[in-house]
Amino acid sequence: MQKIKFKYKRKTMIMSPLNYSGNKSKILKTLISLFPKNIKIFVDVFCGSGIVGLNAKFKNLILNDKEKHIIDLLQYFQNNSLDNILNQINKIIVEYKLTDSKNKPKGFYKIYKNEGLSRYNKDGFLELRKSYNQNPSEIKLFVLIIFGFNYFLRFNSKGLFNVPVGKTDFSNFQYKKSVEFIQALQNKNIKLLNLDFREKELYKNGDFFYFDPPYFITDAPYNASWNEQDEKDLYNILDSINSKNKKFALSNVLESNGKSNNFLKDWSKKYSIIHIDRQYTNANYRRKNLGKTQEVLIINY
Ligand SMILES: C[S@@+](CC[C@H](N)C(=O)[O-])C[C@H]1O[C@@H](n2cnc3c(N)ncnc32)[C@H](O)[C@@H]1O
Repeated sequence: MQKIKFKYKRKTMIMSPLNYSGNKSKILKTLISLFPKNIKIFVDVFCGSGIVGLNAKFKNLILNDKEKHIIDLLQYFQNNSLDNILNQINKIIVEYKLTDSKNKPKGFYKIYKNEGLSRYNKDGFLELRKSYNQNPSEIKLFVLIIFGFNYFLRFNSKGLFNVPVGKTDFSNFQYKKSVEFIQALQNKNIKLLNLDFREKELYKNGDFFYFDPPYFITDAPYNASWNEQDEKDLYNILDSINSKNKKFALSNVLESNGKSNNFLKDWSKKYSIIHIDRQYTNANYRRKNLGKTQEVLIINY
């Protein structure tokens, strides 16, 4: 059994203030330590929050996701100055009378058990949500995510943002995360794309491709529409990258809560499979003693 030594130096990782569902924050260090060196262009085909690319030691990134709202938000962060973004957030907090714990003395707001700050913010949040749904903007959406329940990004069938108020606000912690995240987005050379993973344009320029698709056998909001055809199209793309002598890494699970992804098990036999510990702190090659959810990284290098 081969253990992997982690060589990553930075102690803390850049985290996304979006807390994106299915994000790779818990296994980020391990994941990045398993990426190849000397890559000219890194492509994150299912980037979600973008934190994998932002933390990987590559300068040139292509970040892609089919979810237009997330790409628009990343683009907004990339194209506006940090001061301007923070001012806009502040303006919305004042206009909609939302809590501002960062700028208030400790204990200023009474935190109600199990409710956090939601009592203070409910009315203003609903007003802001109404305003966003009538007249959307990236910055309103960002504030809605920060003040919304569990940082969800969710829309109903009519395309209206429908998340209820959450328990927290734009706290010191959220502020720090947001500043670091926005600075990282602005400091790297990043091209953002909003394409389906099958689009050829995605594969024209990169030399290392990372895939973190919806998992065929687990439940997440964006997994519902992921089907057998998507799964097979993905394997074909990975085989085609391999045949061009380019590198790929695929995050996935082989088993989860009694379900098994047999397509993936069969297909992945020709590549290297790295089993990532369930505690997400370590990784072992070809680990035998597997837990309920087998998080894996499948690589061709
Ligand atoms: C597991 S999440 C990625 C999380 C990301 N690695 C992170 O750390 O935040 C999977 C992503 O795939 C995107 N997605 C789903 N179907 C897609 C498709 N057909 N083409 C491109 N992206 C897709 C979803 O919008 C979602 O953001």
